[in-house]
Amino acid sequence: MTRKDLMAGNWKMNTSHLEAIQMVQKLGYRLDPADYDRVEVLVCPPFTALRSVQTVIETDYLPIALGAQNCHWEEAGAYTGEISPTMLAKLGVSYVIVGHSERRQMFGDDDGAVAKKLRAVLGAGMTPILALGETLDQREAAVIEEIIGGQLHAALDGLDAETGGGLVVAYEPIWAIGTGRTASDEQAAEAVGFLRGLIRESWGEATADSTRILYGGSMNPGNVAGLMAKRDIDGGLIGGAALDPDKFAAMIRYYK
Ligand code: PGA
Repeated sequence: MTRKDLMAGNWKMNTSHLEAIQMVQKLGYRLDPADYDRVEVLVCPPFTALRSVQTVIETDYLPIALGAQNCHWEEAGAYTGEISPTMLAKLGVSYVIVGHSERRQMFGDDDGAVAKKLRAVLGAGMTPILALGETLDQREAAVIEEIIGGQLHAALDGLDAETGGGLVVAYEPIWAIGTGRTASDEQAAEAVGFLRGLIRESWGEATADSTRILYGGSMNPGNVAGLMAKRDIDGGLIGGAALDPDKFAAMIRYYK
């Protein structure tokens, strides 16, 4: 089974809605139909820019998918400041990042919260991008597999292949995020291959083969081709470099 590459831009807490409109328009000018055939392109702007970006995508007929960076797990209710999966789905959002390390580290998203969010995203008919990864200390202590395996199992526990099988996983070593220090192609491929093996054990060969697993952490136009040459790496979750439409477009066109 061939898995279509997915290049996802995680804009984090950047861009006003006006800047976001310009960013997605610039990205659209730089890509052509052959790129979209080859690579699925996704942008994840902040909540306040989702509607504006969605309007540009629709008006300009851009085959760019829209994603959100987080959500709450409840449908509605007294949760001041939160956004529900249904609200996102109604805006044309098709992907939601859950478990990003910045949320795990700074906003208390523990494994239990991540598991609930993941189920809520699936329940609203969207695709979760489950982000996970180890710290530098954990890598140095050689407990990577224990950590990322634990994060994967905690998030997927009790889900079957039919319900959970469409998800995307993003392996993002924390020491590589926003640091300019990328995992080597081999380090990234090894971790991604390990995660695919766990999916195979839980959900069988077909689901393991069809699940897209991305790499994230200081991915840039200079290192994208090497990472993407690894058979198990199906795309990128790109932060800093995705804020520059030239760089992001160059990464989407890594195959040229
Ligand atoms: P980075 O961020 O590309 O800026 O390292 C990646 C991410 O956090 O998803």
